[in-house]
Amino acid sequence: MTIHAPKPAIGLDNVPAAETTLSHVDGERGELIIAGRHVGELVHEGGYEHATALLWSAASGKPISAEEVRRALADARVAVFADIKRLLAGTDGMDSIAAFRAALAALHPRDGIAPRVLATAAAAVIAAALVRKERKLAPVAPNPSLGHAADYLQMMRGHNAPTDKEAAAMDAYLVTAIDHGLNASTFAARVVASTHADLFAGVTAAYCALTGPLHGGAPEPVLDMLDAIGTRERIGAWIEAELDRGDRLMGFGHRVYRVRDPRADVLKAALERFNPSNRRLAFALEVEAAARAALAKRKPDRPLDTNVEFYTALLLDALDIPRAAFTPTFAVARIAGWTAHIEEQLRRGRLLRPSSVYIGAMP
Ligand code: ACO
Repeated sequence: MTIHAPKPAIGLDNVPAAETTLSHVDGERGELIIAGRHVGELVHEGGYEHATALLWSAASGKPISAEEVRRALADARVAVFADIKRLLAGTDGMDSIAAFRAALAALHPRDGIAPRVLATAAAAVIAAALVRKERKLAPVAPNPSLGHAADYLQMMRGHNAPTDKEAAAMDAYLVTAIDHGLNASTFAARVVASTHADLFAGVTAAYCALTGPLHGGAPEPVLDMLDAIGTRERIGAWIEAELDRGDRLMGFGHRVYRVRDPRADVLKAALERFNPSNRRLAFALEVEAAARAALAKRKPDRPLDTNVEFYTALLLDALDIPRAAFTPTFAVARIAGWTAHIEEQLRRGRLLRPSSVYIGAMP
């Protein structure tokens, strides 16, 4: 017996699974709209707390101001820090990516703190404490008078508050990465929320999806790639050899964008504002140009351009964030988006339950 079915899009390309007011990705025009703003505008508008307030207001239908978000996150960072020993218990011997997953999974509801606030604050406190743990240093308490981005850097470094320029660069990254349509991790969050499991289950599932190199795990390999290429003379040969082996160039290509990922340029501009003479930038620009040319030649029918991860790697590296913390830092940004999608799913969505195409034997 043959099963006749219309040719499905395996991988769910272009299959809508939700209606959302949170963000929109236009892959043909290379546009990302977050809560009604182009990402390049949002980054200059009012910081991570402002962007979070826009998303949480849209998701819940109950307006919340940037100032309320700022205060709630600051208080919650302090509350989470008081629990940091318990959260990190059991992470010994794990690398930072796995340890972050374990600590996030150890969150549970707390009286007086909204779950979305608790999860978002916890991501920064945990990620910073794990950087210090890796360096065999004690965690550093949050400073609630700082904004979320500045406090993340302060908790990680353990000395005085970061400079305004450093805080602005970190903030630009957090805003740029805050939300991005129904990417794999956000979809994972919505699937879990659609079963009415709690928010902590949803963000943990989302983070697990983020850790793979086809999604949020790419920036660390981007720097490894730049290191492996090493010198200008080796760029062309290295790229050709990589592609000959059938390997992918990290930081290039995207499921939705058929043109350049708009976040790449937002982050490139943030890096140029922060440190125009960044030691890696000139070399990275040459690698980028060569990679785009090689990909265009090999895949003329499949536009493959720079994605967000290429400049994420350069910006986070310029901020002295260790490579192992890149994926947790992505989660520190994206978790506000995940929590908004979870709330929106609960308000408007239904159980997400796609189908599969059976290609096995029939009885
Ligand atoms: N380098 C070389 N070849 C590539 C690349 C790349 N970066 N990206 C895609 N291709 C090739 C594929 O090998 C495939 O070739 P084939 O048709 O001969 O098999 C073709 O282009 C189409 O690739 P798909 O796998 O269909 O593309 P998809 O939409 O599934 O993948 C993805 C998108 C996962 C991002 C892919 O481009 C990739 O692996 N990029 C490198 C990793 C990366 O940068 N990840 C971060 C993505 S951004 C984010 O999620 C936050």
